[in-house]
Amino acid sequence: MTRAYYIAGNWKMHKTRTEAVALAKDLVAGLKDGKHTYLIAPSFTLLESVAAVVKGTNIRLGAQDCACEEQGAHTGEVSVLQLKDLGVQTVILGHSERRHLYKEDDALINKKVLLALKHGFEVILCVGELLEEREAGKAEAVCERQTVEGLKGVTAGDLNRIVIAYEPVWAIGTGKTATPEDADAIHAYVRKVVGNLYGAGAAEKMIIQYGGSVKPENAAALMAKENIDGALVGGAALQASTFVPIAKFN
Ligand code: PGA
Repeated sequence: MTRAYYIAGNWKMHKTRTEAVALAKDLVAGLKDGKHTYLIAPSFTLLESVAAVVKGTNIRLGAQDCACEEQGAHTGEVSVLQLKDLGVQTVILGHSERRHLYKEDDALINKKVLLALKHGFEVILCVGELLEEREAGKAEAVCERQTVEGLKGVTAGDLNRIVIAYEPVWAIGTGKTATPEDADAIHAYVRKVVGNLYGAGAAEKMIIQYGGSVKPENAAALMAKENIDGALVGGAALQASTFVPIAKFN
């Protein structure tokens, strides 16, 4: 089967409001004739301004995280109710920077996944191994654990609102990209893990993005691989001059 390509930009902790609105406008113009699925995920403080720019276009609006509770005494957190209110459709969860810099574990990420799904969001669930885990031959096991634990309690009916992003931690922001072959092998493995949980048909439909130093120069070779269905782009998502060619890789 042919899965739709899905290219997402994770802006991380970059851009002021003026810069964000300018970039969003450039992307709306640059991608209006694009044939794939697109998303941009700015910081929380930028969401309302960027929402006004992308509303009614072919670019989805994503948040980079959400709290694991709906509301309450959680200083510094942002809830799914607040995100929904701003028109956010998608939440990125389990990004490696959340896992490793902010010590989010699989159980916390799973709680967020279930809450986001309950409120109708699409979830991009990030998985990926550290360099030492890859060197120890544990890449598949780590990605399997993060996938299984992240999806715990997700019903087959909700699975079509899950996208998985494979992001080897050693390739994020380092300029080192996994070879298309190495990435495809993990994507195939993760797809098998999803198949074991939900059946082969559901696994076939699952969109699995690759992330980690995706650039205009390597996007097409990655996307050409059987199991790579899109990209989660960090650094190269911060300028239209690099994100648009990635998003229009073919
Ligand atoms: P990068 O980041 O493209 O800058 O490597 C990817 C990501 O962390 O989503």
